[in-house]
Amino acid sequence: MNLVMPNILQAENLASDRVLNGVVNDHYAGHESNLVRRWLPVAEWFDDRCDLGLDPYQKYSRGKISATVSGVFRNGVAFSGVNFASQDYLSLSSHLRLVRSVKSAAEDFGVHSAGSSSLMGGCEMSLRLEQAFEKFLEYREVTLFPTGWTAGYGIVKMLARPGDHIVIDFLAHACLQEGASCSGATVHRFPHLSNEAVRKHLVRIRSAQPDAGILVVTETLFSMDSDSPAVAELQAICTEHGATLLVDCAHDLGCMGETGRGILEVQGMVGKVDVLMGSFSKTFASIGGFVATQHRGLRTAMRACCGPQTFTNAMTPIQAAVVLEALAIVSDPEGAVRRKRLAANVAYLRQQLHENGFVTTGEPSAIVPVAVGDSATARLMTRHMTRNGAIVNLVEYPAVARSKSFWRLQVMADHEGSQINDLVCKAIEARAAICNQPTVEECSP
Ligand SMILES: Cc1ncc(COP(=O)(O)O)c(C=O)c1O
Repeated sequence: MNLVMPNILQAENLASDRVLNGVVNDHYAGHESNLVRRWLPVAEWFDDRCDLGLDPYQKYSRGKISATVSGVFRNGVAFSGVNFASQDYLSLSSHLRLVRSVKSAAEDFGVHSAGSSSLMGGCEMSLRLEQAFEKFLEYREVTLFPTGWTAGYGIVKMLARPGDHIVIDFLAHACLQEGASCSGATVHRFPHLSNEAVRKHLVRIRSAQPDAGILVVTETLFSMDSDSPAVAELQAICTEHGATLLVDCAHDLGCMGETGRGILEVQGMVGKVDVLMGSFSKTFASIGGFVATQHRGLRTAMRACCGPQTFTNAMTPIQAAVVLEALAIVSDPEGAVRRKRLAANVAYLRQQLHENGFVTTGEPSAIVPVAVGDSATARLMTRHMTRNGAIVNLVEYPAVARSKSFWRLQVMADHEGSQINDLVCKAIEARAAICNQPTVEECSP
C-alpha cells in the first residue's frame, strides 16, 4: 500500500517519523545504567502515540464484552463500536449459565484458592474440571494451571533440561519460546509448519546423541497466522525418532471440530499427541490452562517440580466453575450451534474482505489476519477504524516481524451479518482515507 500523508496528520503537525514508524525496541535505553530508567523512553514513545490516537493498546472496556463494546484508552479518551478485538469465540462471556455458575461456586466454595496446587490450592471444582477435561480430551491425566501462559512455559521448561534439545516452530507462542529459552536445553527453531525441517533436525540430533531427550513444540492453530501443521505426520516423525511432541491448542479447542475438540479432532488426532496444552482464555470464558498426557503420574511430578505449579496459587473455584460450565455448553448441542454460527461468520467476513480487495491470510478460524501495510499505514488505518466505531487489534513487532503489521480480527458466534458489513465498510473507509484505494461507494458490502 502507498502511504499518502493525509491532511489530518499535517494539521496535527506530527513528528510523524517518530510515532508512525519504528518499534518498541528502538526506544529502549540500553545505555542507561539505571535499570528502571531504561524503560521510560519506551513509555514516553507509547504515550506520544496514545496522545495522537496512534496507540491502540492497553484499552479498558466498560460493561460487558460482546459483539459491540465501549471503553476508554489509558488517557481517558472514549471509544465504542463493533468489536472484533476480543477472544470470546463462542460468545460465552456473559452467558447466563456461566454467570449463575459463578454465584453458586462462590456460595459453595468461596472465591479464593488460597494456596498453590502443590499444597491445598486445588478444590472440589478443580478436581471435577480435571476429570471433565480428561474425558473430553481423551487423555488419562489433565493438570490445571493458573493461566495458559504458565502451562506452556512451565511444561516446556520442566520437560527439557540442560543436555536435551528443543525443536520449536519459529512462530510458536511466547510462553513456549520463553520456556524453551529458560530450560537450559539446546533450542533449534524450525521454519513455520515445516515437518520436513523437524525431521532433518531429529535425524541430525539423534545421530550425534542417540540418548538425548528431544522435545518438539508447535501449536494446533497459530494464534497470529491462523494456520496449522499436519499433526499426524509430525507425531509419526517424533515417534520414529524418539522425540516427545508437545502441541498448544489454545485457539481452536472448544470452537473448532464437530464436537469442539479443535484441530486435533479435525485431523483425527484426539488423544494421540504425546503432550497437549491449552488455555481457557479464548473459548472457555475464563482464565486458566492445562497440560494433558496419557501418563498418570506426570501431574504429581509437576506439582513438585514445575515452577508455575509449585510456586504460584492455583485457579480459584470461581474460574474452575466457569470453565466447567463452559465445557458443558461446548459439549451440548448449543455448542455445536455456536460453532456453526462462528464458522459462518468467519466465512462471510473473509469473503467480504476478499471481495473488497483486502488480503487475508491463513485458514478459516476465529482468527482472521488482514494485511494492512507498513507501520505507518497500519497505525493510521487503525486510528481511523477506532474513531469510526470499529475496534480491531493491531499486531506489531515484537508479536510479528518489524515490517509485517496486520489486523488480527477475532470473530464471535454472536456477531451479526450487519456488524460484519459495518466492519468491512469502515475498513474500506479507513483505507480510502489513508491510502490511494477505492472509497466505500465503489465497494460492495
Ligand atoms: C497460542 C497461545 N498459547 C498460550 C497462550 C496463553 O494463554 P493465557 O491467556 O491463558 O495465558 C496464548 C494467549 O495469548 C496463546 O495465544
